[in-house]
Amino acid sequence: MVVIEKDVSLTPYNTFHLPAKTRLFATVKSKKELLEVLKNPEIADSEIMVFGGGSNVLLTQDFPGLVIKNEIVGIEILTEDDESVWVKAMSGTIWHDLVVFAVEHGWGGIENLSLVPGSVGAAPMQNIGAYGVELKETFVELEALDIKTGEMRIFTKEECNFGYRDSIFKNEEKGKYFIFSVTVKLLKHPKLRTDYGDVARVLAEKGIVTATIKDVSDAVISIRRAKLPDPKDIGNAGSFFKNPEVENAIFSKLEKEFPDMPHYMMPSGLIKIPAAWLIEQCGWKGKRIGNTGTHTRQALVLVNHGEATGDEIKQLAHDIIASVREKFGITLSPEVNII
Ligand code: EPU
Repeated sequence: MVVIEKDVSLTPYNTFHLPAKTRLFATVKSKKELLEVLKNPEIADSEIMVFGGGSNVLLTQDFPGLVIKNEIVGIEILTEDDESVWVKAMSGTIWHDLVVFAVEHGWGGIENLSLVPGSVGAAPMQNIGAYGVELKETFVELEALDIKTGEMRIFTKEECNFGYRDSIFKNEEKGKYFIFSVTVKLLKHPKLRTDYGDVARVLAEKGIVTATIKDVSDAVISIRRAKLPDPKDIGNAGSFFKNPEVENAIFSKLEKEFPDMPHYMMPSGLIKIPAAWLIEQCGWKGKRIGNTGTHTRQALVLVNHGEATGDEIKQLAHDIIASVREKFGITLSPEVNII
């Protein structure tokens, strides 16, 4: 029988370490336990929030509903042929554990996503991406449980409608499903992606000419450890904002004024500008305001220096948005879910 606890602190469950409580809280380790919780009369009509790693939320207030902590874990090989392996991971599995599983078997496709915080179930929500690779490239399908009816359904890649840090689960289907498992197709002879600046640099520094899957994973791990703060040491949720994409006309104007502005052409024709650069140019990098601030080595990461509240982080985010808008005319939008 799953215990439904009352008035539980969410501080240990969110990587920002913010103080907020939930009215109801349950941990589930299987589909059976999940269904049992959803059917419990105590939770009737309660709003439901699923927590995997808690690495993409900014909690600004107590939650009046039920938080389900997902601890449904496991990795299974579904099938394989000469080229590929289909691997299914349960949604409560730590994302990096799936990466390690793939790398240890010598299967490629997600090595650039090493050490992305959070759970397997959270990965498709925002189509996680890093160092030139996005989840959608290896994603096959996911199983999701309809929270209202308790029925399981499959979402294909097309149905997930993946975009840059985006999917149907952040839009039309927000809050309606409990993602249960994710299937990815890994490659036995992958073409490795080592072109992203930092990855290429680390491989070159190590004198690696023909990189293996493990080399790429190790390079990504060392870059992330060097640049991104570990939530164990300092509360944060990775990149706080998305990198904005602007039209050519706007970019040309900005480029005249800021010729050093880094930028990347997107297949859509839009031009992506690193939010970290914009924020740094406005003087925010490494700045501390009370209990909050931006990270000294990555301006895109907002941090909790210890005793911050969600509202204080939200205020900092607003102030950053306002100054970037004033200097560049670009409005940053948050990547994290603000509750
Ligand atoms: N830059 C600065 N100042 C900084 C940091 C970076 O000016 O303090 C500039 C540099 O020009 C650098 C460029 O920004 O070349 C890009 O920086 P970086 O490679 O660190 O990546 P990012 O654009 O800041 C994105 C993702 C990260 C992902 C990295 C690596 C988003 C919102 N963030 O960050 O994802 O790890 O690329 O691929 O797309 C996350 O989503 O939580 C996350 C960490």
